[in-house]
Amino acid sequence: MRFVIENFGCQMNDHDMEKMGSVLIDHGHVAGKDIDDADVVIVNTCCIREKAEQKFYSLMGRLQHLRRKKETILGVTGCIAQQEKENIFERLPFIDFSLGPSNIHLVAEAVEKAAAGRIRTSAFGDNGGSPSLVIRPHNTRRGIKGYVTIMKGCDNFCSYCVVPYVRGREESRKGTDVLAEIREMAERGIVEVTLLGQNVNSYNNGSDDLSFPELLCEIDAIPGISRLRFVTSHPKDISPDLIACFGTLKTLCESIHLPFQSGSDRILALMNRGYTSSEYLARVEALKEQCPGIAFTADCIVGFPGEDDEDFEATMRLMETVRFDGVFSFIYSARRSTAAALLPGRVPPAIAHERLSRFQKRQRVITLDSNRAMEGTRVEVLVEGQSKNSADELSGRTRTGKIVNFKGDPGLVYKLVEVDIIKGYANSLRGELPDTPGR
Ligand code: SAH
Ligand code: SF4
Ligand code: F3S
Repeated sequence: MRFVIENFGCQMNDHDMEKMGSVLIDHGHVAGKDIDDADVVIVNTCCIREKAEQKFYSLMGRLQHLRRKKETILGVTGCIAQQEKENIFERLPFIDFSLGPSNIHLVAEAVEKAAAGRIRTSAFGDNGGSPSLVIRPHNTRRGIKGYVTIMKGCDNFCSYCVVPYVRGREESRKGTDVLAEIREMAERGIVEVTLLGQNVNSYNNGSDDLSFPELLCEIDAIPGISRLRFVTSHPKDISPDLIACFGTLKTLCESIHLPFQSGSDRILALMNRGYTSSEYLARVEALKEQCPGIAFTADCIVGFPGEDDEDFEATMRLMETVRFDGVFSFIYSARRSTAAALLPGRVPPAIAHERLSRFQKRQRVITLDSNRAMEGTRVEVLVEGQSKNSADELSGRTRTGKIVNFKGDPGLVYKLVEVDIIKGYANSLRGELPDTPGR
């Protein structure tokens, strides 16, 4: 059967989509492109903010029509499936199966049961030994970049966040399994590996298996891997051993995504983040000292309950101090079952929007400045493909994660090349191969 997976949410979900695709291909199904031509449509869902949920329900409206017309098999997986559990069949009576993030290994079975006689499948278990952790998406990885899940779940219970409820408790995958998967990827030609988890730096906490820094060292030694990245890190778990890996391990890229969420200590405490703004800044300083030129990106929330003008100014100050290369910023969205949903001091939407736009405007200038500061430097670029805008242009990324577009031979695709940066823009850099004639 021809299947299409519609995906929402984070990189964990992107990777779960790859895993489901791989399982389905193993069972003889074929990946399609268009939902109108598909026999099976799976929607892999996210509920981190209200907007993500709204997008899902509006897509389901469209799929209900398709189901009436073509009897398409429909499945809902991921975080909304887990949040709603069996209720999802009441809300969406026309779907055939629903699987939580720990049960995506059942996807082929669920499709086959639906095809055989409209038998419904549901599974939302999360009691350790998560099978979704061990799936290797060997069929779906193309190109030179690959993702590897190293842990699942989250035990941090930040007061605004739904993840601990929908992804369950933290569980790390065995070091030997992670290393075996990466060796296999390297043999298939993958050169850049990103380790995935809600909180990768608490990998194997409290166990005698490899620690996170030890895992990084082992991966660094795998032949064929030239770039190593990881997302996401929690500032409270950045250890001296992890800091020491930067600038020391040759494959570990000079960039880190380190969400700060707020610059106000009062709000950080209400968020249950487990650090103060000065502790956050101390970690940033230690990383900069160990690895000059390291790029910082982050997530931030504005309009958290009780956030006043002064709290927001503290967030602006933190942003100014770190000078991030980029920040994903969001307006606080109240989520069911979370502690923050019960807090007083709701920030009026107009004020939250105003704060967000002020934050984003300033961050755009800082990002542009940091891109311009690259002008005149020579950097290593991993060429990912031809540029979307122009046929004779190539596009790739620096080790710090910045996009570089430059003229070059398509034969350079998938290669690591040295490029001179000639111009910095808001979202990318323009480069030139050093031996370009006429310079
Ligand atoms: N595990 C990661 C990312 C979690 S979700 C981490 O801890 O960093 C990605 C981002 O979404 C968070 O960093 C946060 O900035 C944002 N987010 C999470 N819940 C939110 C909510 N209820 N409202 C607005 N933004 C939220
Ligand atoms: Fe959510 Fe906090 Fe866990 Fe990140 S660390 S997933 S923000 S609870
Ligand atoms: Fe969304 Fe679930 Fe990821 S809620 S952000 S898809 S862990």
